[in-house]
Amino acid sequence: MKFDPNWHPEGAACAAALDKRIPGYFAAGPVDWMIVGGSGIGKPLVEDQGEHALGLEIRERVALADLELPVPSVAGHGTELVFGELAREGGAPLRVCVQTGRIHPYEGHPASVSAAPLGAVLTLGCARLLLTSAVGGIDPKLRTGAIVSYRDQFNLFGPTPLRGPAFVGCSNLYDRTLRAQLRALAEDPSQLPEVVYGHARGPQYESPAEVAALRSLGCDVVGMSTTYEAVLAAAHGVPTCGLGLVTNAAGADDLSHEEVFVESNKARGRLAALVRGLLLRAGASESPTPA
Ligand code: HPA
Repeated sequence: MKFDPNWHPEGAACAAALDKRIPGYFAAGPVDWMIVGGSGIGKPLVEDQGEHALGLEIRERVALADLELPVPSVAGHGTELVFGELAREGGAPLRVCVQTGRIHPYEGHPASVSAAPLGAVLTLGCARLLLTSAVGGIDPKLRTGAIVSYRDQFNLFGPTPLRGPAFVGCSNLYDRTLRAQLRALAEDPSQLPEVVYGHARGPQYESPAEVAALRSLGCDVVGMSTTYEAVLAAAHGVPTCGLGLVTNAAGADDLSHEEVFVESNKARGRLAALVRGLLLRAGASESPTPA
């Protein structure tokens, strides 16, 4: 099914603004990877240096505000699209775009606006997408600090960036080939469990009854983002995978965004190593299964 820009006009408008801001960048080809950074995750991927960092050579930085978008207002979220290159042996450097922070629907924006920067990059050219997010653990086996790979999602009642007759198939939202590549990076499968992401509107955390309901619906983790981006990528036919960092037990007493931020910060080295491994493994040479 071919993507129709009328399904997401905000993405089309943002694509025109981005193309004007970095003329020629996409004429040279698509990005090999786009990464959307979750709470406390996106900025360190770009800023950290040294052995445990992603190691991007930055080429362009575009403020979301320069694309006429709202500025992310939540602590731990950056405000840019950063374009860089990741050197690799035996091939051209990978072209990577990192969105360092999200504009969330719970900040008062429609999902179509929240997903506009992603829509822009998907429109201009993107081979693969990695979505990252902080999540609450519903499955009691998932401890704080665990990194998970999304297998599927539950977003029946949550937001979508699409409108009109966008009857997009969602049977492979998190691409099987990319997931297998992620599994291969973990020394032992219990280190990177595959989970179902349940969408919560937020900004309030979930009540124990809501967590129990999500559990009975088959969700292993809960978060306030990601799902509507995976749907948009499916509409564009771009293979996607997702990594979550469990920052707390869902529905626990005294939850705070501070805790989410502290836990993301602790895991930044482990996450960057995994992301780097994925990018280099599933680089430009192999082709993933189309969504
Ligand atoms: N619920 C929803 N979103 C979250 C949580 C949570 O417990 N933790 C981090 N993001």
